Amino acid sequence: MGTPIFFDPHRPVGAALCAETGGVGAVFSDVIDLRGHFAEITDEDTLVLGPDVEEREAFDVAHFVRSHRPGLDVILVRREITTPVLQEALRTRMSAVVDHRDTPQLRAELKRSLNRAPVREVPAEPVAPAPARRGRVLTMFAAKGGSGKTMLAVNLAATLADRGHRQVCIVDLDLAFGDVAIAMQLFPAHTIADAVPLGGEIDSSAVAAMLTQHSAGLSAIVAPTEPSTAEAIEPKLIAHLLDVLRDEFDYIVVDTAGAFDDQVMAALDVSDLITLIVTPDVPALKTLKITVETLIELGYPRDRLRLVLNRSDSRVGISHAEVEKTAVMPLAGQIPSSRDVPASVNRGVPIVQDDPKHPVSQAIAQFAQDEVIGIGLSPEQIATRRRTVRKRRFRR
Ligand SMILES: Nc1ncnc2c1ncn2[C@@H]1O[C@H](COP(=O)(O)OP(=O)(O)OP(=O)(O)O)[C@@H](O)[C@H]1O
Ligand SMILES: [Mg+2]
Repeated sequence: MGTPIFFDPHRPVGAALCAETGGVGAVFSDVIDLRGHFAEITDEDTLVLGPDVEEREAFDVAHFVRSHRPGLDVILVRREITTPVLQEALRTRMSAVVDHRDTPQLRAELKRSLNRAPVREVPAEPVAPAPARRGRVLTMFAAKGGSGKTMLAVNLAATLADRGHRQVCIVDLDLAFGDVAIAMQLFPAHTIADAVPLGGEIDSSAVAAMLTQHSAGLSAIVAPTEPSTAEAIEPKLIAHLLDVLRDEFDYIVVDTAGAFDDQVMAALDVSDLITLIVTPDVPALKTLKITVETLIELGYPRDRLRLVLNRSDSRVGISHAEVEKTAVMPLAGQIPSSRDVPASVNRGVPIVQDDPKHPVSQAIAQFAQDEVIGIGLSPEQIATRRRTVRKRRFRR
């Protein structure tokens, strides 16, 4: 007989549910890890969704479970049980909704579920198509060349993929001169140019044919080998491609050319996060100011923008406060300067994989943790995370 799994974004809450119901079972606090776990062959019978799992996320997970693990019972724990919650729980065929204070009921439901286990070998009826992965699009942007877009794109993608825990795709939209393939030592058989003859007919199998695998969890769609092909790649093709990739990957990291061209804007339009990269020099700051103003004028919400200072330790007389004032936004990340960065590019191994303890790697991991993995959290969760981050920085 299998054991239960407990999922709650606040690990202590999930752990408490586990302890209160017998202390047996695995506890997850990251939804992507949880989904990854379902991809493995395991024998749990019950999934308990804790009280702090956001409503939408809880039902998304239930949908996902129905199509990937039809034998698994889902029990939803809520602080408040409303009629819409019950209706949606029925629709997604959860087996129970339990009040968070009612530990005896939760225990009873778990017992019932575990006892029912053998019967549930019968395949479940087909359900409405599950909202698939719907990964997040993270775009690197800087209107000034050489700021570190490719360096951050490659290393952020490698950090997020971290030993295959999440499925990540890096897309090189520096269509004329993209160098993601070089920075990752890829030998691609296909490039994004393969999408051109397909017109609007890009589906998951067409995307699969375009991918170059880098490592477990990390794939790439590289730029065309011929710079002249770039023009043939229309903005709507890019939008369509990114949309299909959302179904296949948890994160889609987009590297761009340093320009507001239509192709890059097609990516910016669908980005969940636009990371602006700047170096501490006067020309870069001037460009940053214009970039932020342009993005705001073009209607991109300010809360989707993040500012990362690359080569943050360069002693050039520009303070971090000046950078923040110029962009009218706080720094979300600071990456120090190091000769090991170009060395890693030359070797074709992302520095985060080559040397995870390197200050550059740690800064990128910190940015990923603070700003990327947190997206999709509720406003309260984001506020809590921000408070923690601020405290940590203040202590330093
Ligand atoms: N933190 C860093 N420390 C040292 N060197 C760095 C750092 N970040 C980037 N570099 C180096 O600076 C150069 C430019 O970086 P990168 O190619 O990532 O910038 P980019 O914004 O993608 O440039 P382009 O606009 O040409 O595409 C590269 O040689 C890279 O190795
Ligand atoms: Mg680049």
